[in-house]
Amino acid sequence: MKDFQFRMPAKIMFGVGASKNLPEVAKNFKAKKIFLLTGPHIVKTDIIKSIKESLDEAKVEYQVFSDIVTDPTIEVVDKTAGILRESGADLVVAVGGGSPMDTAKAICMLQTNEGSVKDYLFGGSKTVTNPCMPLICIPTTAGSGSEMTAATVITDTENEIKLSVTHEYLVPKIALIDPELQVGMPQSVTASTGMDALTHAIEAYVSLNANPLSDMYALYAIETIGKNLRTAVSNGNDIEARSNMAIASSIAATAFLNGGLGVVHGIAQAMGGVAHVSHGIANGLILPYAMERNYVGNLEKFKNIAIALGENVEELSLREAARKAAEAVFELAKDIRIPMKLKEVGITEDHFPVIIQGTMNYRLLAINPCKLKEKDIEDILLKAYK
Ligand SMILES: [Fe+2]
Repeated sequence: MKDFQFRMPAKIMFGVGASKNLPEVAKNFKAKKIFLLTGPHIVKTDIIKSIKESLDEAKVEYQVFSDIVTDPTIEVVDKTAGILRESGADLVVAVGGGSPMDTAKAICMLQTNEGSVKDYLFGGSKTVTNPCMPLICIPTTAGSGSEMTAATVITDTENEIKLSVTHEYLVPKIALIDPELQVGMPQSVTASTGMDALTHAIEAYVSLNANPLSDMYALYAIETIGKNLRTAVSNGNDIEARSNMAIASSIAATAFLNGGLGVVHGIAQAMGGVAHVSHGIANGLILPYAMERNYVGNLEKFKNIAIALGENVEELSLREAARKAAEAVFELAKDIRIPMKLKEVGITEDHFPVIIQGTMNYRLLAINPCKLKEKDIEDILLKAYK
């Protein structure tokens, strides 16, 4: 076994109604004013209404800001960082999915680290040196896991690429995980974000960087998602399924924070840059095809994934059992209506060279269970295309 470190990131406060703890949590931070960052859709929902009511009741000052975009861009992040600077707020609360949380992480970082977020993206001229403005995340989806991680994914529209800033200072201080807030999530969002969480868990589990602790988190998340995602999609009011998905998503994120990711996220990130395919859809679509390629890299672990997803492998050889993992993911993705072909999401063969190049440049490709070359990425894309 190789040496490893394990980070347990943000403090979790989990439970139905946990978001009602926000005023108390803000007071513990001695916050003078909250910058409440959310998305243009969520701002109109009862979620924000009830958060505002609880802050009003507790007499906590706040400013709501919702003028952000899905897949935060450099321009929007820099502009929003300026608005936060002028607001006088000293604590940021992000309410929403990956996009508001990632925007919030980036603007908190820019309060204490000079320049544009572009300077800090992977390969950029600057590194994060100062602790960020504190951030509390209240996720309304069960997928991105951004409430637990040290990364923010930013779109560079000029170069049609998604890149990340990764530093432990970016880890939010507290994740208030309230499954009740996820009950109203549309079926398609539940499905795509759930597949993102499953991808986090599977990629972390089979990564070359995995360790016994990240394995434990990843396998728990795989099994829990396998048992609950269908129900959460088909009956969104099932609070038990929502609760299991909510915590599995954060656990999967803890697994990948430590174990890393692989080729699926490399391709999804590149696809998102060229054709604005949602991150969850891109992952869910590519995941089973990539597993068909990757399973030879670790038969034992892929067999464990098959078992965690409920496959009966008793009569099978190790290789046959390992192959079952991809089959199980295909079945799950089909059941929850994830598009299974690239054509359905607007990707054509003309996009392939840029996607292949983007994937080859992906930092975490190095820890994918199989060493992959351009031709391997093309093969995965072709299988997902035809
Ligand atoms: Fe992801």
